[in-house]
Amino acid sequence: MDRIRIVGGNELHGVIPISGAKNAALPLMIASLLTDDTLTLENVPHLADVEQLIRILGNHGVDISVNGRRERQGESYARTIHFTCRNIVDTTAPYELVSKMRASFWVIGPLLAREGKARVSLPGGCAIGTRPVDLFIEGLQALSANIEIDSGYVNATAPAGGLIGARYTFPKVSVGATHVLMMAATLANGTTVLGNAAREPEVVDLANCLNAMGAKITGQGTATITIEGVRSLSGARHRVLPDRIETGTYAMAVAMTGGDVILEDTDMALLDTALEAIRRAGAEITETNSGIRVVRNGAGIKPVDIVTDPFPGFPTDLQAQFMGLMTMAKGTSHITETIFENRFMHVQELARLGAKISLSGQTAKIEGVSRLKGAPVMATDLRASVSLVIAGLAAEGETMVSRVYHLDRGFERLEEKLTRCGAHVERVSD
Ligand code: EPZ
Repeated sequence: MDRIRIVGGNELHGVIPISGAKNAALPLMIASLLTDDTLTLENVPHLADVEQLIRILGNHGVDISVNGRRERQGESYARTIHFTCRNIVDTTAPYELVSKMRASFWVIGPLLAREGKARVSLPGGCAIGTRPVDLFIEGLQALSANIEIDSGYVNATAPAGGLIGARYTFPKVSVGATHVLMMAATLANGTTVLGNAAREPEVVDLANCLNAMGAKITGQGTATITIEGVRSLSGARHRVLPDRIETGTYAMAVAMTGGDVILEDTDMALLDTALEAIRRAGAEITETNSGIRVVRNGAGIKPVDIVTDPFPGFPTDLQAQFMGLMTMAKGTSHITETIFENRFMHVQELARLGAKISLSGQTAKIEGVSRLKGAPVMATDLRASVSLVIAGLAAEGETMVSRVYHLDRGFERLEEKLTRCGAHVERVSD
């Protein structure tokens, strides 16, 4: 199994190209199930999760062809992918596939909208929390779907004439349930109004793509999304938006090591709250023609308290990385996680590098230390593992991160991007 070896201590200088967002690409790919025409997505990142979803969509009858836009070392990245689902050949998403990647549960929306039925495995728990699907079920029921849970599967059927538009207010903000309800409502009879909807940029990206396919969606990016049902959707060409989590991760890496890096092909507006926290920690962040410049010179890292929240709040997907940064702050900071109940697994691993962190409920207290020391550590989930990489970049000596398949789910060419900026990071295959 691959591991990542980091020798810490180098500043980062150079340019890091930011990939298309994993969490936008996944729902966009799933939207291809809504039409028999071709949906072409540009700027699709080359990641394990994307490859897994390609397999899952293939099972449902989606033909997929991939063009590499740019090639490096024989591998394509920033790919353009064409998805064509002339017919849905299978409305079942089996446990073996859904349990590997939670977002594949989201096929329930398009399958139900287009075929009037779907049988989708419950995803089960995952490392960061229990992650129930009650909001999806309640929301689809509001659109008149009949739902039964049987042997670990959700069996959903639409009324004979198709789903029926309705008003539904989420009791809690959910990105996935907003994606699914929005997709399902595009082909429903009548108008759907979603209240307390997720405002994440990835939701806006999906709505924009659906509109390009002929949907009638307004209000995306606000808490109230209105979807006027249409009879059918067509194909479209859409560019996946930049990955705000990858952007924030590298910005935090520079704030941690010091240096001067341009994050290319990305947009500050996608992560205002996180960038503000990094600024308060002592980095200078400015907009450039091609993206964002992050600089931290001699000044040390200042402690900053944060609380995770749905967009536009501080993203839970950057919480672990920010904790990595705070481990070397000159003072004590507090990080409160409000989205997932078990998203502190990096704490024990950061402690192995010498971090001083104590947990009390959903809040971590981080007492900054003047130095971290490299050690073997284990990746536990995608974002937790990259927080270990950030800490390893600033630690003295060698940090060896095992279980890097977590990283491969969400960070395209991490070693290459960091190495080109002067970091000492390499993949070691056993
Ligand atoms: C998306 O997950 C992202 N995944 C997550 O990124 C991200 O952490 C999360 O949104 C929050 O921003 C993708 O986009 C593929 P939610 P999602 O539904 O949609 C609870 C990463 O590292 N909830 O917004 O699954 C849920 O348990 C991943 O890239 C219910 O209670 O998250 C959580 O506490 C990890 N019932 C909260 O809502 C439901 O039916 C928010 O979850 C659904 C969710």
